[in-house]
Amino acid sequence: MKIIVFNGSPSAGQSNTNVIVEAFLEGARLGGAETQNIFLIEKNIEHCKGCFYCWFKMPGKCVFNDDMEQLLNKYKDSDIVCFATPVYTWNMTAAMKNFVDRLVSLKSPILMQQNGNFNLEDSIPKTQQFIVISNSGFPGDNNFNTMKEIFKYCNPILEIYRNCGKLLKNKDEKIKIIVNDYLKYVKQSGYEIVTKNKISYDTRVNLEKDLVSLDEYIKLLGM
Ligand SMILES: Cc1cc2nc3c(=O)[nH]c(=O)nc-3n(C[C@H](O)[C@H](O)[C@H](O)COP(=O)(O)O)c2cc1C
Repeated sequence: MKIIVFNGSPSAGQSNTNVIVEAFLEGARLGGAETQNIFLIEKNIEHCKGCFYCWFKMPGKCVFNDDMEQLLNKYKDSDIVCFATPVYTWNMTAAMKNFVDRLVSLKSPILMQQNGNFNLEDSIPKTQQFIVISNSGFPGDNNFNTMKEIFKYCNPILEIYRNCGKLLKNKDEKIKIIVNDYLKYVKQSGYEIVTKNKISYDTRVNLEKDLVSLDEYIKLLGM
């Protein structure tokens, strides 16, 4: 099984998002997966200009000659695609949004209705499953509402939404213990996805629990 992560954090390998991604991929590799971790910010990806060349002139081919062609090949060659991004302004980052827009070449100009909403048909049958990983600087799960709404269109098999994400790289020894315990469950989720295609109830509960109290978090941030 091949898993590819597209990480939209401007902090790339140093990001809080990547702390979660690395733990997830470690578990996935333990389960036997081949993994790749791509930092979108390091890639040359033009903004989609909406010319629809990839639909009407040359189906599947973009008018831009940039890194996206190579990334699309990696995407198509994977069994699981993971969108990983921090929350910026209650949404995914611009780098991730830019990447997601450029996936338009995987769609066709055929409108369909799905549970009362409109979407476009895939240009080639979808063979991938999807995962979403995100972290937010603020406490509270409302930070992920927009992202959940957007990514529901790919029907993710796993969504990891970590609030209070500033804890992930905190140097305080007490916090490190809490974070390492959390990351054990992230790793377990990677292992379970590869070996069972879903995560257990126990893993889900542990992924969703608060890491520290609201008061503690605000104190730690010094805000
Ligand atoms: C421009 C900008 C906008 C942000 N907007 C939000 C937000 O709406 N909600 C939130 O919880 N955190 C927000 N944050 C905080 C980030 O989500 C937080 O710093 C996160 O841990 C960064 O993750 P990363 O290290 O993976 O990039 C924002 C940060 C920046 C720089």
